[in-house]
Amino acid sequence: MARGYGLETRATRNGWLAAALLLVASGCDRSNAPGSQDAVPLAARDVAQPEGWADELALPTAEDLNSDPDVLEIAIEARVADVEILPGIKTRAWTYNGGIPGPLIRAKVGDRVIVHFKNSLPEPTTIHWHGLRVANDVDGAPGVTQPPIEPGAEFRYEYTLTDAGTYWYHPHTDSSAQVGRGLYGAILVEDPADPDAFGDDLVMILSDMGLDENGELLPADSGGNFGDLFGREGAVLLVNGKVKPTLKVRNGKQQRWRIINATRARYYNLRLRNHRFMRLGGDNGLAARSADIYNLIVTPGERADAVFTPADAPGSRNVLRWVPTERGYGSTFNRAAEEMLYIETVADAPVTPEPIPTELRTIERLDLEGATALTLDLTIAITSTVEMGINGVPYWKTKPLEAKIGETQVWRIVNGTDFSHPFHLHGYFFQVVDDTRVPEWKDTVNVPTKSEITIAVRFDDRPGVWMYHCHILDHAEAGMMGTLVVRDPNAPAADAPPLPVHHKH
Ligand code: C2O
Ligand code: CU
Repeated sequence: MARGYGLETRATRNGWLAAALLLVASGCDRSNAPGSQDAVPLAARDVAQPEGWADELALPTAEDLNSDPDVLEIAIEARVADVEILPGIKTRAWTYNGGIPGPLIRAKVGDRVIVHFKNSLPEPTTIHWHGLRVANDVDGAPGVTQPPIEPGAEFRYEYTLTDAGTYWYHPHTDSSAQVGRGLYGAILVEDPADPDAFGDDLVMILSDMGLDENGELLPADSGGNFGDLFGREGAVLLVNGKVKPTLKVRNGKQQRWRIINATRARYYNLRLRNHRFMRLGGDNGLAARSADIYNLIVTPGERADAVFTPADAPGSRNVLRWVPTERGYGSTFNRAAEEMLYIETVADAPVTPEPIPTELRTIERLDLEGATALTLDLTIAITSTVEMGINGVPYWKTKPLEAKIGETQVWRIVNGTDFSHPFHLHGYFFQVVDDTRVPEWKDTVNVPTKSEITIAVRFDDRPGVWMYHCHILDHAEAGMMGTLVVRDPNAPAADAPPLPVHHKH
């Protein structure tokens, strides 16, 4: 993958490491050497993050059962477990391996991942690897790419990581209920050629939970039709499964945030007083250019990749806030900002932040000449129930769209409804056709209320039946979901992918 940045080479990075080791060996801790930092601020890379800086945000990892450095083999069990969300109160939640979030899958481009999955939940489930370009048969869409995994049953997921970036995994069966109870985990795919000039990685999986005062989960259908219509936002905001954790930082010492929105319905608009962020990209890693931004906006299913440069004086405490974002009818009415994450500046020495390159990656616009064009109209029908659909048809009555390997299609996604919808396509990255945006590859894009967005997608490989849907999971389950058959024109007819069997809602 051609990338235009890379001011620093492996060689200089190793040189820097060697210098750092020498300093340690000589017993000279430059960050604490009195006098030295006042005259000459330290380069950011010469200092480490504060001791235990991200301890409260640490994500569990799963044991790698395979000694091959290019294979990550792990066991994931979905099971009911007691977790502590509110201080001193037990919440009976649905978990991967007993915790919220599930284990972080951290690997590098080209690695093979093997997941021995066991369903110990009282209901069927599947795992979808959101954003990963996996083969169709491990995509985790129940009744489409695999049968639902019944309670007590096991399933082996195996795939190769083809793209650097931030991804996540979650159930695709009764998804609003299952994600809402705690089933989600982060995936970080690193590129060994990626210089770490941007600073240390911090994966932040943002979620929310609906709990009563005893710490019990609200029922999955809380709010009834209104819950379906608005999408269910839990009142308890979590960062890596914690309520208002604290991050320790050093003034000027950068870190790279990898943010995942794993909520059912909540839109995030993140703000930090006194600070701006350098957005590097999102769903599929780096965008073409970095962008200096004030609001970090992440809609359900999306990811954001941004450099945070702490700029507060040592001894101060700041707070990252969720700010209400317009996502349709009444969504910001009478709502205040909420605190999510405390940021404590602990270090006594300012450091000079690293410059962030502007050009990050070469992303060529897809050639749209001769591309098949189609329109997907997001629709809501309110009768005695709320039925959402695409082109007026809910998921359980839909006919699959058709595409051929090698073909480019242009989808106009029209949203005439009173709500915004984050549109997600499985299996392929797309480009938003809009010259005012920084070019980047995405798998989820917000379609604001009463507007439309056009995306271009090239079906590069991997025939099969793929899902697309609104990532407000209550909307998806209410019918705003469809399928797409990607066929290999050279495959014998017998190898054609089967048509999905849709279960009645
Ligand atoms: Cu993240 Cu079909 O979903
Ligand atoms: Cu929606």
